[in-house]
Amino acid sequence: MPSSDKARQAMLKLCKDTGNGEIIDFGSGWGHFVIAAAKTFPERKVTGYELSWVPYLTAYVLKLSFNLNNLTLKRADFLTAELSSNSVLVCYLFPGAMKAIAGKLATGQHQVSYLISNNFACPTLTPTKTLQLNDFYHSPVYLYRL
Ligand SMILES: C[S@@+](CC[C@H](N)C(=O)[O-])C[C@H]1O[C@@H](n2cnc3c(N)ncnc32)[C@H](O)[C@@H]1O
Repeated sequence: MPSSDKARQAMLKLCKDTGNGEIIDFGSGWGHFVIAAAKTFPERKVTGYELSWVPYLTAYVLKLSFNLNNLTLKRADFLTAELSSNSVLVCYLFPGAMKAIAGKLATGQHQVSYLISNNFACPTLTPTKTLQLNDFYHSPVYLYRL
């Protein structure tokens, strides 16, 4: 399920205050967020990890048709990702995946600067900022400074 338009706008707004590091979408799906991010931040590297073939290939076709040279799409498990220093992780997943991401970050092997999560909190971190969407559920979008 793609992030909603409002959630995507909130995630992009939070990305604006995270410097110039790589933006990495953990579970990039059909590409809704990564395509918007690559267009909004043409000077930044944007990477999406996605396991499912059909969404991955669809996002790949969109990347080619929009000629987004700053966007890299990997059909791989994000839990195996090597993360560049100052990178910004973005995700719209589920509670179990947030726990797994917290475990990955806790290894101390990664130089991630920020985590932005649509709807699901990271169980081990306190958000620096929380945006509430103007939707039926007042859904939260969390920013964590790591
Ligand atoms: C809710 S969708 C979010 C799509 C996109 N980030 C967006 O905002 O529109 C979550 C995606 O994460 C993918 N996913 C779940 N676990 C994954 C994993 N371990 N590695 C890579 N992708 C994964 C799923 O296949 C799904 O497409």
